[in-house]
Amino acid sequence: MPESAAPTTIRWERDADDIVTLTLDDPDQSANTMNPAFSASLEAVADRLEAEAESVRGVIITSAKKTFFAGGDLRHLIAVRPEQAQEVFDRSMRMKRNLRRIEKLGKPVVAAVNGSALGGGLEIALACHHRVVLDTPGCRLGLPEVTLGLLPGGGGVARTVRLLGITDALLNVLLQGQQYNPARALEKGLVHEVVTSAEELTARARAFIDAHPQAQQPWDVKGYRIPGGTPAHPKFAANLPAFPANLRKQTGGAPYPAPRNILAAAVEGAQVDFETAQVIEARYFTELVIGQTAKNMIQAFFFDLQAVNSGASRPAGIAERPASRVAVLGAGMMGAGIAYSCAKAGLEVMLKDVSVEAAERGKDYSAGLLDKAVARGRTTPQQREALLARITPTAEAKDLAGCDVVIEAVFENQELKHRVFQEVQDVVAPDALLCSNTSTLPITSLAEGVERQGDFIGLHFFSPVDKMRLVEIIRGERTTDETLARAFDLVRRIGKTPIVVNDSRGFFTSRVIGGLINEGVALVGEGADPSSVEQAAAQAGFPAKVLSLVDELTLTLPRAIRAESRAAVEAAGGTWQPHPAEAVLDRMIDEFGRTGRSGGAGFYDYEDGRRTRLWPGLREHFTRQDVDIPQADMRERMLFAQSLDTVRLLSEGVLTSVADANIGSILGIGFPAWTGGVLQYINGYPGGLPGFVARAEELAARYGDRFAPPELLVAKAEAGEIFTDA
Ligand code: NAI
Repeated sequence: MPESAAPTTIRWERDADDIVTLTLDDPDQSANTMNPAFSASLEAVADRLEAEAESVRGVIITSAKKTFFAGGDLRHLIAVRPEQAQEVFDRSMRMKRNLRRIEKLGKPVVAAVNGSALGGGLEIALACHHRVVLDTPGCRLGLPEVTLGLLPGGGGVARTVRLLGITDALLNVLLQGQQYNPARALEKGLVHEVVTSAEELTARARAFIDAHPQAQQPWDVKGYRIPGGTPAHPKFAANLPAFPANLRKQTGGAPYPAPRNILAAAVEGAQVDFETAQVIEARYFTELVIGQTAKNMIQAFFFDLQAVNSGASRPAGIAERPASRVAVLGAGMMGAGIAYSCAKAGLEVMLKDVSVEAAERGKDYSAGLLDKAVARGRTTPQQREALLARITPTAEAKDLAGCDVVIEAVFENQELKHRVFQEVQDVVAPDALLCSNTSTLPITSLAEGVERQGDFIGLHFFSPVDKMRLVEIIRGERTTDETLARAFDLVRRIGKTPIVVNDSRGFFTSRVIGGLINEGVALVGEGADPSSVEQAAAQAGFPAKVLSLVDELTLTLPRAIRAESRAAVEAAGGTWQPHPAEAVLDRMIDEFGRTGRSGGAGFYDYEDGRRTRLWPGLREHFTRQDVDIPQADMRERMLFAQSLDTVRLLSEGVLTSVADANIGSILGIGFPAWTGGVLQYINGYPGGLPGFVARAEELAARYGDRFAPPELLVAKAEAGEIFTDA
């Protein structure tokens, strides 16, 4: 008869062989998380195991859910207030203490990992003497806490350091939060065995127990040495100075406290006994939990889930109509990537270009990506063949017969786009979804080139398509709800995160990234030292330095976009407000002939396409010794410009969802993840919205009206509100 340890989050079964199977099975949720009920169950289980230890032969920990264990309870963590620090610390210590009691039972404890074990899940497994993993599709193991601004607070730092050595623990597991499939987790030394069936999983767990009547962790054996040495060891000491430098490289000096705390917990913890290491880990964990960065990063994670899972931006009540055959028009950089992503999701793809050779080159792009994936063990040669077989290159419109989706990615030219749609609209299925991957052209006027304007929509992918998770869906004036729902489902089907915006010049992402570019360029024009400008962008947490980013995009692109915007504003009877960046771009292009990397010279010098140094002419022609712009102003001008533009887009109705704005800014334009996104940055700014408004007014007085807080922001600040969809 199965017995049960109350409370019931962990089921207890002791069999005729005196093996206790602990099954993690939260009755209230679809996945197991480290919530208070789990914590209480773990304590009850530890009590009972200690009481029955003499007669128990071994313990197997497994789960009744699809995943082994999902990790920390993020809803709880995000709500923690700084005054609850002691509570957080105590809770973390309780978890560690109970895992430690099971680890020190003296009897073999095996983790039978039946699905993904991330964060807390892997920490539970690490506290077991032996780890067997069932290789299921999508199964991942890792400690991704750093990506949420946290550190593994359930003994994960102390145990990975002892298991793998400090260097490997930091670089392979802790600092970047890598998630491994079972084979790679085995290779990295995180688990002991990988099996392919549930029967084997149990059999191997029992075999370990049979072979090891007594078991203890390697680190509990007297005289155990941490692989690679402790920080006191001369070999390790020689490597240690490189770590803070590498960290700075990773974070660019941006305010990410998690990597710093992880490093400190690992290094300090390696020099003391296990119990003290756990206390050190709990202290650093608590510091992160009560800070703003972790809250922002967890919030961004929820925004992502909301955008993908809740489908809040998808019109309600429209049944799904799964796509099956996609026509991709244009096999250039974007078209090739879109074809790959669609084929990867199991869709049939017709890839069309002006010649079969050009279309084949587009398909070769997929072959190249797959070769790399096979070499790294991420996919099999059979899967490679199957994916490639789903892409058919062609130059003939008639081959697109029956396609139920068209995604156009030809050159950025309205007439050409109109022409290619006219060529195919009567060939494809009569109700095919018609999408354009334009990055700047208004969707409403592109739609005028097709007969069924209601079926037309913008699907803005980002480059490189296979890596970039975001797709910005742009609804034109005549796009129907049904079309929007179908586009939304398609984006989800290919495993990307959809955000939805209304049609407007530059949509959301292209318009908002302009704020960063303009401020970077304007600062050069105001006489700031160009290397300080680059440093400010890195310190703010942008993934690319701003002037190098402009060089990549080319200096002519922002100029062309502004010229178009100006024409549109003036045509509508408005007055164009020039940005100080414009004069700098004009001089760079017209006076110095520097157009960016593709032109061989921009804000940087290039040799064979490789960036060598900032162009010395910048200092000569622009930098002024009498100008001293504080570094904090430079950083905040870049961040504020983008946040303020986003508020304007919200007021204009281009954006309708706060979650979409936040996750779109992080995934699409590299807005720093520590902020939680463009609008969450305002929510989390010191002093909240009133603090942000006051600072915006200060920047406006110093640098220009573009920083003046928009009405919507001021009204929300006065009403004591924040930016939220709730
Ligand atoms: P690309 O120049 O690499 O590729 C364009 C392809 O279209 C070429 O292979 C060309 O042969 C083909 N093409 C031209 N006329 C055609 C026709 N009549 N029928 C079929 N194919 C034809 O350009 P890229 O970078 O792939 O951009 C494509 C579109 O995606 C543009 O609208 C661009 O604005 C947009 N976009 C580009 C992004 C980027 O980062 N490059 C990002 C997001 C959108």
